[in-house]
Amino acid sequence: MTKKISLPTTLPRERAFLIGVEIRGEEGLLPLDESLAELALLSSTAGLNVVGELTQRLDSRNPKTLIGSGKVEEVQALVEETQAQVLIFDDELSPRHGRELEKVFGDTVRVLDRTALILDIFAQHASTHEGALQVELAQYEYRLPRLTRAWTHLARQAGGGGGRTGNGGVGLRGPGEKQLEVDRRDIRRRIDQLKGELEKVRAHRGRHRERRKRARVPVVALVGYTNAGKSTLLNRIAGADVYAADQLFATLDPTTRRVELPGGRAALFSDTVGFIQKLPTNLVAAFRATLEEISEAELLLHVVDATHDSALAQSEAVLETLADIEAEHIPMITVLNKVDRFESPEDGNWLLEEFPEALPVSALTGQGMKELLSAVHTKLYESFTPMTVHLPFQQGALIALFHEQGQVDEVEHTRRGVRMVGSLPGRLVARFRPFETGQQVEELEEEEV
Ligand code: GTP
Repeated sequence: MTKKISLPTTLPRERAFLIGVEIRGEEGLLPLDESLAELALLSSTAGLNVVGELTQRLDSRNPKTLIGSGKVEEVQALVEETQAQVLIFDDELSPRHGRELEKVFGDTVRVLDRTALILDIFAQHASTHEGALQVELAQYEYRLPRLTRAWTHLARQAGGGGGRTGNGGVGLRGPGEKQLEVDRRDIRRRIDQLKGELEKVRAHRGRHRERRKRARVPVVALVGYTNAGKSTLLNRIAGADVYAADQLFATLDPTTRRVELPGGRAALFSDTVGFIQKLPTNLVAAFRATLEEISEAELLLHVVDATHDSALAQSEAVLETLADIEAEHIPMITVLNKVDRFESPEDGNWLLEEFPEALPVSALTGQGMKELLSAVHTKLYESFTPMTVHLPFQQGALIALFHEQGQVDEVEHTRRGVRMVGSLPGRLVARFRPFETGQQVEELEEEEV
């Protein structure tokens, strides 16, 4: 006789205790309490239940346990009291911190940091092959110097699938115990293999992008801090069915939709991964492919959650990341989103002082969409930016493009190419930026000698 066993469909959410640290002289973009509030949102996005938090301001990091030994004792007591199972630091833990804290907290409490948490969320949200490869690579690079029990952390937690990482479940979200059997050499080998696979995927995408460029449909990339409303905005303007959720990093893979602009022209709108403060540079590098979509765009729509107390700090974090990936030269329209939440329209004035040309919109109600699409059209097709470029002869296609689509005021031939002065429509500005120069022909000739 067979006996039926009914399994619970959801496991209880793990209990997490958060620790925020501020080192004097290293204050981040967000004040300590807001950064911690963000960590709480990240934790619940990862499926954890936040049961308590603690902050400490320090003159310097304790090399062993990050926080001071007295604070460690305090945390131990609080962890016991709240029965927390996971301890999450808002600051990046060095491998040594991880090991030392693990000694203190033993087997019952796992210790992680913000980066590990973000990686875990990424692992849950990567839905394309390329996204999964990138996450897996980032996870291995992060874990290599930290191969101890603790870094298998969220593996046992509710909802942990791990299947998507495509590595037989050794990602942060896979059955983590297996990870311990895999030695460093194997991980290095896997890292090389992943890099190779990513190269192939990228080459394929590069070809795709070239085709798209030849088709001359401009790409508009939506960028913004996580949860700013990028996916909701894309849904609104493209009628697309993009997953939008009050979670951080709901979007990991770029989604592109074609949108008809007023005046009968079209543009490709691309949703991108949300930015966040304290994203370690190696993580940014791992997502370079996704971010490349941004640096190849003709126009950026910077979506800001205008109702967020830290709207300004968040937009600064976005602008910093854009500079990191060398995308700051791309023309940009700033969009102040979620204005439906304002009690009075004046609520957004303080942000308009920072971004005088920003457009107030509500992706939720559709307010401001007509104005936004016509601003995109104007920026791409009607507004001309004065430019002086020095194009080498090999760039014959760009020389022709300037003549065809731009307004040419002056052309001078140099030994290696052509110096062109004139104006170009917004959609072409980013392509010509790398060749920009204010120099005269004589100076260019001198340089060339
Ligand atoms: P990531 O994927 O984390 O980068 O987020 P995102 O920028 O794509 O944000 P998403 O579109 O998922 O929206 C985040 C949350 O904000 C969701 O709960 C949306 O419903 C909400 N939201 C987006 N736009 C608006 C808006 O105009 N008004 C209001 N009230 N809520 C909005």
